[in-house]
Amino acid sequence: MKPASVSDYRKLARRRLPKMFFEYIDGGSYAEVTLGRNLADLEAIALRQRVMRDMSQLDMSVEVLGQKMSFPVGLSPVGMAGMYARRGEVQAARAAAAVGVPFCLSTVGVCSVEEVAAAGTPPWFQLYMLKDRGYMAELLARAKAAGCKVLVFTVDLPLPGSRYRDVRSGFTGASGLSGALNTAWQGVTHPEWLWDVWLHGRPHTLGCVQSAVTGGRRVTDFLSWIARNFDRTVTWADIDWVRKTWDGPIVIKGVLDPEDAREAVKAGAQGLVVSNHGGRQLDGARSSISALPAVVDAVGSHTLANACAQARYGGAVAACGLAQGFDFPATVMPFILRAVALLGVDSVMAPRALREQAWARLATDLDPALLESITTEVALADAVDAAQRLMDGSVRGRIVVRTRA
Ligand SMILES: Cc1cc2nc3c(=O)[nH]c(=O)nc-3n(C[C@H](O)[C@H](O)[C@H](O)COP(=O)(O)O)c2cc1C
Repeated sequence: MKPASVSDYRKLARRRLPKMFFEYIDGGSYAEVTLGRNLADLEAIALRQRVMRDMSQLDMSVEVLGQKMSFPVGLSPVGMAGMYARRGEVQAARAAAAVGVPFCLSTVGVCSVEEVAAAGTPPWFQLYMLKDRGYMAELLARAKAAGCKVLVFTVDLPLPGSRYRDVRSGFTGASGLSGALNTAWQGVTHPEWLWDVWLHGRPHTLGCVQSAVTGGRRVTDFLSWIARNFDRTVTWADIDWVRKTWDGPIVIKGVLDPEDAREAVKAGAQGLVVSNHGGRQLDGARSSISALPAVVDAVGSHTLANACAQARYGGAVAACGLAQGFDFPATVMPFILRAVALLGVDSVMAPRALREQAWARLATDLDPALLESITTEVALADAVDAAQRLMDGSVRGRIVVRTRA
C-alpha cells in the first residue's frame, strides 16, 4: 500500500512492527477513555469555512521561543523511537528539519542527544526528572553542549500509567521462557523490522541515559528502570532547580488544568504544552484539546509560546502567540492586565483609554525582536495605568502578552 494519510501509515505500522511495539505506540492507559476522548473531541471540532480570499501566498510560519517554524507544528517527544525504525530519532529529526519545524528528543530516546544533534539541527530536549540530580545536571549540560535551545519538562509522568495492551502483547510483565519466546516470535514474524531495526539499527540503548540504566538491555528492563528511577516527589518547587540548571527557555509539558498552568508560569515556565500524554497516563482525564481554551484563558499564549523578550518594568515580558498575526496592542494590553492580576502581583489595573505618550514609552523599551514580530494594527482600548506602573516599577511580576489566537 502506498500511504496517503496518517491512518494509512498506522496500517503500515501495524503490519511492519512487532505487535508489542505497535500496541505500545497505538495504545493508551487503562480503559483508554482519555485516548478515545482525544480523538473524538478533535474530530468534533467544526472548522469555519470562509471563501474568496487570495490564497496564492500562504505563509504559516511562526516564531516560537526564538525559533522560526515554517508552520505551527512540532514533533513531540516519543520514547524509544529507535525501536520502531532504524535510528528513529535521527530520522525524525531530519524529517522535522527538512520541513522547518522543531523535533523534541525524549529523555528515553534510543539515540543520544549528541547523535541527533550531529545529524543536523539540535533538537529541543525533553526532560523526565530522575532521582539523581547530579546525573540530571550532567544530562542537561550535555543537551546544552549539543546545542539544544529549549527544554521541555514533562510533568505528567511521575510513574508510568498502566497500559493493558502492553500486558497483553507481552511488552510488559512477560518474563521467563514464554516471554522470551513471545518476543522472538514477534521479531521473526516481522522480517522487515528485524532487518531494519533489530539488525541494523543498533545499539538499542536509551542513548541519553545509557550510563545510568542498570539491570539489563531488554525493553522490560528499560521500563522497570524507568519505574525505579523517575522522581515521584517532584513538585513546582523543583522547577527552581531546573531553572538554575538550565539557562534557556523551559516548556512544561503535561498541563491540563488552568490552576496548574498558572503555577507553571509562576514557577518560571516560558511555555506550556497542554497534554494528557496522548491518553497514556491518567485515564479518565479530559481530552487535551478540550482543556486548551481554559488554559489559554488562564495564562495567555504561554500555551505554545512564541517570541520571548525581556523588558525592564520590574518583570519579564513573555510575548507569546499561538500563530502569526499579533493584534497589537488592542488585544495585547488587556491580557497584560489580566496576567498581572492572575500571577499574583499586587495590582489589578482598571481599563482606560490609551494615552499616546504612555504607550510610546512602553513600546520604546520593549525588545526590538518583539516589536519586529508585531506587525498589525494599533487600536488600544485600555491600559495606560498598567503601562505607567510597569514603567515606574510599582508593579512587579511576570507579564504575559497574549494574542487573539
Ligand atoms: C509511543 C509514545 C511514546 C511517548 N514518549 C514520550 C516521552 O518520552 N516523553 C514525553 O514527554 N511524551 C511522550 N509521549 C507523548 C507524546 O509526546 C504526546 O504528548 C502525545 O503522543 C500526544 O498527545 P497529547 O496531545 O495529549 O500531547 C509519547 C507518546 C507515544 C505515543
